[in-house]
Amino acid sequence: MLILGIETSCDETAAAVVENGQTVVSSAVFSSLSQHVKTGGIIPEVAARRQIESIIPVIEGVLKIAKLKIDNLDAISVTYGPGLIGSLLVGVETAKTLSLVWNKPLVPVNHLVAHIYANWIDAKIMPKFAAVALVVSGGHTDFVLMKNHGEIKYLGGTRDDAAGEAFDKTARLLGLPYPGGPAISAAAEKFEILNSKSELNLFPRPMLDSDNLDMSFSGLKTAVLNFIKKQSNNLTIEQLSAEIQEAIVDTLVAKSIKAVEKYKPKSFLLAGGVSANKRLREKITQALKGKTKVFIPDPKYTTDNAAMIASAAYSNYQPVPWQKVIANPSLSIEE
Ligand code: KG4
Ligand code: ZN
Repeated sequence: MLILGIETSCDETAAAVVENGQTVVSSAVFSSLSQHVKTGGIIPEVAARRQIESIIPVIEGVLKIAKLKIDNLDAISVTYGPGLIGSLLVGVETAKTLSLVWNKPLVPVNHLVAHIYANWIDAKIMPKFAAVALVVSGGHTDFVLMKNHGEIKYLGGTRDDAAGEAFDKTARLLGLPYPGGPAISAAAEKFEILNSKSELNLFPRPMLDSDNLDMSFSGLKTAVLNFIKKQSNNLTIEQLSAEIQEAIVDTLVAKSIKAVEKYKPKSFLLAGGVSANKRLREKITQALKGKTKVFIPDPKYTTDNAAMIASAAYSNYQPVPWQKVIANPSLSIEE
């Protein structure tokens, strides 16, 4: 089954053709990131305008690379939320139009659920259920239990800022560019190449003792700000980055251990933009060794892409009449 995926929830305009939810026939991601580096964050209006310019060329491009005739496509899938409303609307309305004109079934896909399906792309071993997934993106940090495809239950997550947001906000305080995650990760790595791991534990790891899977990252930016204001020992940006990264990663890892010990899943699925983080990938793999099978997407499918949309659509194949597909910016992971 060949599904065209379309993803426009934020600043990436992406399309992909995926066969049977697993094999990527073609995939393209256009990012308007360079526009947002100047402003130190995404301006929704700017992102939406770039989406409008890019959506048709990106879709045309993936179909051309896949050497596909429209007739060969079995369905169209699209992210309908959560995300920025202006950006979402571009993908949703384009997908609805194509579905109507090409007479193809249309499958709406939750963006956060799609991140989890990045673990099925090009997988040599398939994840088994029940699975615990941790979705760590720029806007969400959620633990969910997946008993099967389409059977998802929220277990806990951040009560305030998302982990990606914590990277982005603290990077800004250090004068590092947007997006903060890759910038902090690169700076931390520089420190660790010259020194060893920074183990000062300068920043808080809140809620580690709480008996649930909830987390809080909003205190981190205040702690970093206070430290920078007061600091007398002149730590480098690189060492501060290593300390910030360690605080975020330690929290995610500790709660992941808790989730696995409580639910004893057959698989643990890491997902979302922050799962590109090398230190998180290493530490979570190490921490869950022997407890469950850990899956982490190929780095190229961790941040927003359309292959994950088509993959999620294949495993949760529920076409909806185009009239009923509506962009929803504030969707939860269960909807
Ligand atoms: O999933 P994603 O691409 O978009 C959303 O759905 O939000 O995630 C973007 C987030 C940003 O906050 C970015 O800083 C973070 O993922 N990110 C990283 C890394 N690459 C992207 N965070 C830590 N380390 C990275 N290497
Ligand atoms: Zn995302």
